[in-house]
Amino acid sequence: MATITVKGGEALGGRVMVSGSKNAALPIIFASLLTKGESVIRRVPDIGDVRVATSIIESLGARCERSGDTLLINTERLTFRRPDDNLVSQIRASTYLLGASLARFGIAAIQSFGGCDFCKRPIDLHLLACRAFGADVRGDSIFSHGLRGASIRFPKVSVGATVNAILLAATASGKSRIENFAREPHIFNLIDYLRSAGADIQVLENVIIIHGRELHGGNVAIDGDPIEAGTYAALSAITGGNITVLGIDPASLESYLAPLLEAGAQLDTDDGITLRALPKEQTSIVAEPYPGFPTDLQPIAAPILACARGGTIEDRVWQGRFGYLAALAPFGVRYRAYPTGAEIFPSELRAADTIAPDLRGGAAALLIALAAVGESRIRSSEIIARGYENIEKKLRTLGAEIRIDN
Ligand code: EPZ
Repeated sequence: MATITVKGGEALGGRVMVSGSKNAALPIIFASLLTKGESVIRRVPDIGDVRVATSIIESLGARCERSGDTLLINTERLTFRRPDDNLVSQIRASTYLLGASLARFGIAAIQSFGGCDFCKRPIDLHLLACRAFGADVRGDSIFSHGLRGASIRFPKVSVGATVNAILLAATASGKSRIENFAREPHIFNLIDYLRSAGADIQVLENVIIIHGRELHGGNVAIDGDPIEAGTYAALSAITGGNITVLGIDPASLESYLAPLLEAGAQLDTDDGITLRALPKEQTSIVAEPYPGFPTDLQPIAAPILACARGGTIEDRVWQGRFGYLAALAPFGVRYRAYPTGAEIFPSELRAADTIAPDLRGGAAALLIALAAVGESRIRSSEIIARGYENIEKKLRTLGAEIRIDN
């Protein structure tokens, strides 16, 4: 178990380059299983979740080689076997094995898929997609004797189920239509990769149309991580600092920044993104599927509200994603949680010790610790490194006093 110790209360400043997006890299790594050949994936973050995903596909015979931030994946020779439960249960993205494994081998194992434990995380929509493409779910396995193109309209928008439907359709015979799909930027990054591997995918306003094809190796660059970018932008504002976030299209942070700017925060986008000042009024945030405010940034926004004039956060994607607030309470963060959201009050921060509850909740605790004067500790902090590349080095460059003990 790792512990992060920081001395907080200093204004942090400087330039920070965001890494490639975790939630784009993961589906692309699993999508490589559909291809026969070598894929070149650039700007791949070297983070815990990516290492686990790489180990899972290696266990199926993929050969992966990292050179700098480029990942070469050779999927010429693969053999189906049930991936190690220990690996699969570490990351939620292992659900992408359902689509990828069915498409490549005609069989997939239903396992205990992991991920941050902030809410119940069902897989019914993933199974709906598998069945729609002609697969049979039997016990803890899914079988197909040749996937057939299908028309599917999801009853609810799901990033993971959209990824699986795209993976299933990409090599299925014939034409597929996917409606009520997730539109997060990482879905489009996945589509870019699959197109580079020879997939025939058209995205119209309300439907994705895919004609199944055999795929060869692909070549793609992962987009900058909007969640990491939003985290460093928040750090700038809450420490009264001047951090310029580079390597991200400001448009991809629009929905995150909108309610903060509406409440009076100041933004500079001349050179990268700099969130210069906290909101001057109460802020009202509602997390929704894209293009709404991103759910993964609502825990990151909580420290902003606590350091500013407070406000409300509602999450319509993960209704119960507020357990992390208990980990901020020792720092003096005052809040009132209700079933679908929380009210955050302006708070006097103090240094404290806490436990990282999950990836984004842990990052929120780290932000608060860096804003609070004095020495703070975040235990079980290895969960933060699952999603943030080189966080210790990046924070030091910005002037933070930080130490990680493993
Ligand atoms: C992805 O999870 C992300 N994970 C999450 O990021 C993110 O919070 C989430 O999308 C929403 O943006 C990865 O990309 C690896 P969903 P996913 O399926 O795909 C319900 C982070 O911090 N649902 O879009 O698992 C579900 O309960 C992580 O980086 C069903 O009902 O999320 C939720 O309410 C955490 N049945 C909603 O859909 C299903 O079969 C959205 O979930 C699947 C989902």
